[in-house]
Amino acid sequence: MQTLKNLKNEFDNELNLISDLEKLEKLRVKYLGKKSELTELMQTLKDMTNDQRKEFAKEANALKEHFSKNLQEYEKKIKDEFINKEIENSEVYDITLPNLVKLGSLHPITIVQKEVEDVFISMGFCVEDGNEIETEFNNFEAVNVPKDHPARDMQDTFWLTNGQVLKTHTSASQNRILRKYGSPCKVIFPGRCFRNESLDASHDDTFFQLEGMMVGKDITVANLIYFMKEMLSSIFKTDVEVRLRPGFFPFVEPGFELDIKCVFCGGKGCQTCKQGGWIELCPCGMIHPKVLELGGVDPKTNQGFAFGLGLTRLAMLKFNIKDIRQMNGNDIRFLKEIKTR
Ligand code: DAH
Repeated sequence: MQTLKNLKNEFDNELNLISDLEKLEKLRVKYLGKKSELTELMQTLKDMTNDQRKEFAKEANALKEHFSKNLQEYEKKIKDEFINKEIENSEVYDITLPNLVKLGSLHPITIVQKEVEDVFISMGFCVEDGNEIETEFNNFEAVNVPKDHPARDMQDTFWLTNGQVLKTHTSASQNRILRKYGSPCKVIFPGRCFRNESLDASHDDTFFQLEGMMVGKDITVANLIYFMKEMLSSIFKTDVEVRLRPGFFPFVEPGFELDIKCVFCGGKGCQTCKQGGWIELCPCGMIHPKVLELGGVDPKTNQGFAFGLGLTRLAMLKFNIKDIRQMNGNDIRFLKEIKTR
């Protein structure tokens, strides 16, 4: 019986010194395992008298219980301490705080560009990228604007010291695309353009266009009107009425200005259409034979139409933006306001 008492004291002392689960498990094996002193003592039961056995078994079982209960309690205590320490050391995350992550949105020009691309893709056109720095040849000569042609004056150009230019229009990619695809082809190519403009509410030195070309046999102005009407009706989500007026561009013959019946007032006259009932939207025309030829396409057996849609202008119309300078102004308040429209 004294041994049992000694065992209990020994266990209690050892337990108090333990601070981790591994040591606790060793203690469990030592006091409750198959080779423990208690198990050995139980084996001496058979050598005892009945009364001794009864008393000893009772004490031994009580001790066993004492071991189990204390080991269990200690295990819980160690685990709780560990968790509390983890919580104390971790950053507190308050789920009631407002969400501080600010979601951005697409730029209005990107929105319109994607919409126009989607319509043309659905009508079988490919989308191509153009360069922002172009050769003088691609920007001018290849689209039938020779060196001393007065049409060059219409486009105040940024020249690089190596004789290249920041492209003044997406038409600068026409030659590369004609050479790449040949005839027949249906391609659109959006891009950023640059001109050395005096800035005001409707002029910026950086703006976006989306050029398109369809080349093949028997392509006529009727095809041009069809595709432009389809695209514009889809963008403005109404059946848009279009009209062509003659317009001069050296790379088309005949050349046109395509207008749409004002989608805001239905043609009655309003601020947006400057009371005229029509909005000038997109210069276009039948590709000049010289441009086809320079692009490696035989103008005797092929025709094509081309257009140069002002993407920046289209986005301004669609989102009712009055000052072009807001487009590149990078003012978060402007972009936020567009996002909520
Ligand atoms: N490149 C012309 C410009 O920026 C726009 C243009 C006019 C493009 C007629 C065309 C076109 O493809 O057919 O002023």
